[in-house]
Amino acid sequence: MKRELLLRPIGVIRSPFSKPRGTPIQPTFAQHARGEVILDEHYSGALDDIEGFEHVWLLYWFDRCGPWRHKVVPYRDTVERGLFATRAPSRPNPIGLSVVRLVERRKNHLVVEGLDILDGTPLLDIKPYLPQVDAYPDSRAGWFGATSSARELADERFHLPELVRLSPREVVMRLGLRGCLETTARYLHRKLTEELLDADGTVAGAAAALELLSAFLEQTDFRAARAADEELAGRKQALVRIFRGAGGMSWEKL
Ligand SMILES: C[S@@+](CC[C@H](N)C(=O)[O-])C[C@H]1O[C@@H](n2cnc3c(N)ncnc32)[C@H](O)[C@@H]1O
Repeated sequence: MKRELLLRPIGVIRSPFSKPRGTPIQPTFAQHARGEVILDEHYSGALDDIEGFEHVWLLYWFDRCGPWRHKVVPYRDTVERGLFATRAPSRPNPIGLSVVRLVERRKNHLVVEGLDILDGTPLLDIKPYLPQVDAYPDSRAGWFGATSSARELADERFHLPELVRLSPREVVMRLGLRGCLETTARYLHRKLTEELLDADGTVAGAAAALELLSAFLEQTDFRAARAADEELAGRKQALVRIFRGAGGMSWEKL
């Protein structure tokens, strides 16, 4: 089996949603959410004949997800389920699929409705929705069929805290802590731990938080901050050591 595959996005999805919180959890709860699928011009000819279909499948990459776990509490449940028995966005290969209504094609643009997808999401593929082939309306639906939850919008349980996605410079600017890396690191640690612990309430969540934080510190370009504080290089080493040690279960000490 090949251990790695190369995927090339073929376009981008434009939607009204910039954050996970408040984004519909499935297209059926997003019927008026209109946006555009913008295919790279190179593939434009491959859209011919798509106009005849009322719905299309979009396959795309969940590019803003946190680390995957074997068990997750799905949006529409209160207990853990095996990841592959859910439609949670954080997965080993974070591929999403959504059936959206095709409103109009304009050359390499598709106007679509029913988006449960974040703005700027990389598009991997488009396929026509075939009701004769794709629909089994009377099929058993496991825990989803039994749930009484009526939730229609997402929260942030599967996502990386925004701070982790920002560049180091943006973090420093955002927090107004120019040159005060120790505080930055502590703040990040607290945010990450809180958010990941909130997400699943487990120590695995905290360990994942520390992993993210170490990775963040490793890739941080400390030069910007060094201008304001000559001691930062040494402090970085100390911080990385502290957080590495923290990975060994003593994270409460921080
Ligand atoms: C439960 S998933 C279902 C997506 C799709 N219909 C599926 O079943 O694969 C929908 C949620 O994924 C999240 N999401 C959408 N686009 C994303 C992206 N590019 N990166 C990370 N999360 C995303 C949003 O919070 C949205 O509410």
